[in-house]
Amino acid sequence: MRLFLDTASIDDIRAAARFGVISGVTTNPSLLAKEGGVSYKQRILEIAEVIDGPISAECVTRTADELVAEARELASWHPNVVVKIPIDAEGLEAIHRCSREGIRINTTLIFNPNQALLAALAGATFLSPFVGRLDDVSYDGIELIRQCVDIMTIHGLKAQVLAASIRHPLHVTQAALAGAPVATIPPAVLYQLLKHPLTDTGIERFLADARTAGLIE
Ligand code: G3P
Repeated sequence: MRLFLDTASIDDIRAAARFGVISGVTTNPSLLAKEGGVSYKQRILEIAEVIDGPISAECVTRTADELVAEARELASWHPNVVVKIPIDAEGLEAIHRCSREGIRINTTLIFNPNQALLAALAGATFLSPFVGRLDDVSYDGIELIRQCVDIMTIHGLKAQVLAASIRHPLHVTQAALAGAPVATIPPAVLYQLLKHPLTDTGIERFLADARTAGLIE
């Protein structure tokens, strides 16, 4: 499973890039709003200098014609831009028209497998089911990932399931076990993935024994 970083913070992206495990970035208007007014285009271009992979930038218009025009603009910013479009009727039409033009689409705000199926049939490159937001309302978000992956596999559809709205390390494990090709994770979750108390105590013990053995001062 590939890991993308779910943030518009260039500092967090630069810090995470050093691990060599992040192969894309996803942004949205809420994440950009946290970045103190930087222009969307400037931030996307800054991100493209750090991460050489798919960078999702989200449309904020509402009609199919507006979405297609906005998608063309976002896609023109950089070859790595993938355009995020929410799944509704106008969105589905725009996904179809943009995909036909070769614009890569990340379909966002997916909350049921039929939305994912429609977006895949319309030509979307990525499908973003929101795990955490489903959990928030007492639904099993990872079950949606499992269903979307199974539908793509059973019917030979090319769209890649991108597990989104990831809240904690267990979501990452479960998304990987569910067969999601990609998960997008907040920076905080990336650092949590690294952690295990036995690793920390194990390092301490090895260092103590290394001192005893005279390997280190
Ligand atoms: O990728 C979508 C994500 O940014 C939304 O996450 O935590 O607001 O549900 P959250």
